[in-house]
Amino acid sequence: RNMRSSLAIPPLTPDLIQVLIDADSIRRRVDDLARQISRDYADSPQPVILVGVLKGSFIFLADICRRLDIPHVVDFIALSSYGLAGSEQSGNVRMLMDTRENMEGRDVLIVEDILDSGHTLDYLIRNFTARKPRSVKTAVLLDKPDRHVIPVKVDYLGFGIPDVWVVGYGLDYAEKYRTLPYIAEMRPVTA
Ligand code: XMP
Ligand code: MG
Repeated sequence: RNMRSSLAIPPLTPDLIQVLIDADSIRRRVDDLARQISRDYADSPQPVILVGVLKGSFIFLADICRRLDIPHVVDFIALSSYGLAGSEQSGNVRMLMDTRENMEGRDVLIVEDILDSGHTLDYLIRNFTARKPRSVKTAVLLDKPDRHVIPVKVDYLGFGIPDVWVVGYGLDYAEKYRTLPYIAEMRPVTA
């Protein structure tokens, strides 16, 4: 029988130390966040622009937007990321692909997988604010508070986590593990 059917929970591989957040906990938290977001934007004059930060946020974004009961549109942005297989952070954020919606006068909600140093969200908030939106807020699934270098305001937070590399639910290591339904801790890679 195919163990990768949608109902089976994929087992941990030797690369993964433990499940940090299981699929049920993610679902419940995403439900809460979507309810909160729907309430807060209920009086938006125009559809909210949800901007998913590629690629890590795509599953979080997909789950959030399908639970919203407010008018919204989905957009995406791609930024330079860490090295190919690496996990080194750099404060040097570069745009690879811009959004397509005109943000002027609109409510913009940045949807990000994880807040680490803060460089990425700081860059996005500044960049989007310059486009004269009605508002810019952030929804972040995971936060590593021990890693912050730049303070960033998170309006909707899923979970705080320790300073470990995590994969699953959109997050990857060298493009692997994105489709795991849970968040798992990666075994540190030794050179
Ligand atoms: P900064 O440092 O700009 O980083 O806040 C945010 C980006 O770093 C990536 N990141 C991770 N990706 N597992 C991942 O798959 C992790 O544990 C992790 N920590 C940081 C992520 O791309 C995020 O957008
Ligand atoms: Mg990311």
